[in-house]
Amino acid sequence: MRTPLVAGNWKMNGELASSRALASAVADGAAGLAGVEVLVCPPFCYLQAVAGCLADAPVRLGAQNMSDQLGGAFTGEISGLMLADFGCRYVILGHSERRHLYGETDELVGRKVARAVALDLVPIACVGETLAEREAGATEEVVGRQLDAILEAVAADRLAGAVIAYEPVWAIGTGRNATPEQAQQVHAFVRQRLSRRAPGLGEAVRVLYGGSVKPDNARRLFQMPDVDGGLVGGASLEADAFLAICRAAIDSTTD
Ligand code: PGA
Repeated sequence: MRTPLVAGNWKMNGELASSRALASAVADGAAGLAGVEVLVCPPFCYLQAVAGCLADAPVRLGAQNMSDQLGGAFTGEISGLMLADFGCRYVILGHSERRHLYGETDELVGRKVARAVALDLVPIACVGETLAEREAGATEEVVGRQLDAILEAVAADRLAGAVIAYEPVWAIGTGRNATPEQAQQVHAFVRQRLSRRAPGLGEAVRVLYGGSVKPDNARRLFQMPDVDGGLVGGASLEADAFLAICRAAIDSTTD
């Protein structure tokens, strides 16, 4: 069985003191939780401070992006080697804000995912369609193309431990989540596409839903058979809301 994962994407929010306070509150609240993997992804510059606050708590540390390169003359970039040095286990890659605001292409995201797995980091590779693409009936075409770029860049046997996040762009930060049925439909498609590349791959990979996940909608989303947890933006900035979402992931496995 796939253990659910709830990942907090803090984006470019907070400062040092509030990041420490949030990490400590999540660490305290997660101490009693079993049956869910909890992850926080602060901005790069707070990774070390947050790592210190997590100490022995059952909360993993991740980053929000990384370079496709290992090191060298790449001004402003952060290498996966550096992330590993700071205790990161996970890295979010190809978030729609990276794709749409900073021009990351499917090919670049594929190279980043390949680099992450080569460094034993677990990529959380994001895919998802815009509202216009959904309305044009192109959801599967877009998500399929984004997945194929990853599948072309990475050997299938290296992908089994990876995580895919389905994040419809129209649901991110809008308060308008996909319905559980809409999410399930795309998640099932993601698994099919992965298994078309390598039998069993779709069943091995965890597929998270992201886009306006909140304490009051998380459980119904996570109850869907192909939804293995969530990538949470806004609600991850409040410890109580984030922990409630983590508990919803546990409850959804016993429903
Ligand atoms: P949201 O963001 O939960 O604020 O919609 C999700 C994400 O961008 O990962």
